[in-house]
Amino acid sequence: MHGTDYWEERYVNKATGWDLGDVSQPLKGIIDSIENKKCRILIPGAGNSFEAEYLIRNGFSEVTVLDLAATPLLQLKKRLKHRENIKILQENFFDHIGTYDLILEQTFLCALESRFRESYIIKSHELLKKDGFIEGVLFDFKSQSNEPPYTASIKEYKDLFQKRFEIVKMEPCLNSEHSRNGKELIIKMKRND
Ligand SMILES: C[S@@+](CC[C@H](N)C(=O)[O-])C[C@H]1O[C@@H](n2cnc3c(N)ncnc32)[C@H](O)[C@@H]1O
Repeated sequence: MHGTDYWEERYVNKATGWDLGDVSQPLKGIIDSIENKKCRILIPGAGNSFEAEYLIRNGFSEVTVLDLAATPLLQLKKRLKHRENIKILQENFFDHIGTYDLILEQTFLCALESRFRESYIIKSHELLKKDGFIEGVLFDFKSQSNEPPYTASIKEYKDLFQKRFEIVKMEPCLNSEHSRNGKELIIKMKRND
C-alpha cells in the first residue's frame, strides 16, 4: 500500500490530477438528496475534500474526514476556518474506529492496490451501522499504469461488494466531470447484515 510519504509528496509536488478543486457533481447530487443533516458521514481518503466543505456549508453536523496526508487536511482546515462540527483526522483508514450511517467514496478505493479491495470492503462494513450505506463513484475504465488509480470492472466490483453489501445501485454515472465521462460508476450499497 502506498504510505503517507507517497501521498504527502504528491500533495507537496501538486501531482494531484484527481483533485477537482470543487465538489463533484455526482457527490453533490448524493449530498443534496440526504434529508437528515445529523447523518454520520465518513469521507475516507478525503484529500482536499471539497465534499466535506460542501456538507458543512449545508448544515451537516456529523462529518468526519480522514486521510494519511497532512497537507490537504491543513488546507481543508484553513478553508473551513474554525467550524467545530467536523472531525478532520490524519489517520490510516484501516486503523480508524467509528460508527457511521454513510461512507462517501470518491477516488479512495482506486488509491489502493487491488489486493486491498477486499480489506476496504471488510473495513467499510465494520465502520457502518447496520443498514448503513456506501455511496459515491468508482472508476471502471481500464488502466495500464502501475500507479493509482487502480481500477476494476463493474463485474469485479459486484463480485467483491456483494459478499457484504446489497448493491442498490451500480451503474454508469451520467453527470461525471468532463474528464471522467464514461469512466465512472455511480454506486449505492447497503450493509447487508
Ligand atoms: C486519489 S486521492 C483522492 C482524494 C479525494 N478523495 C479526492 O477525490 O480528491 C487518494 C487519497 O487517499 C489517501 N489515502 C491513501 N491511502 C490511505 C489510507 N490507507 N488511509 C487514509 N487515506 C489514504 C491519500 O492520501 C489521498 O489523499
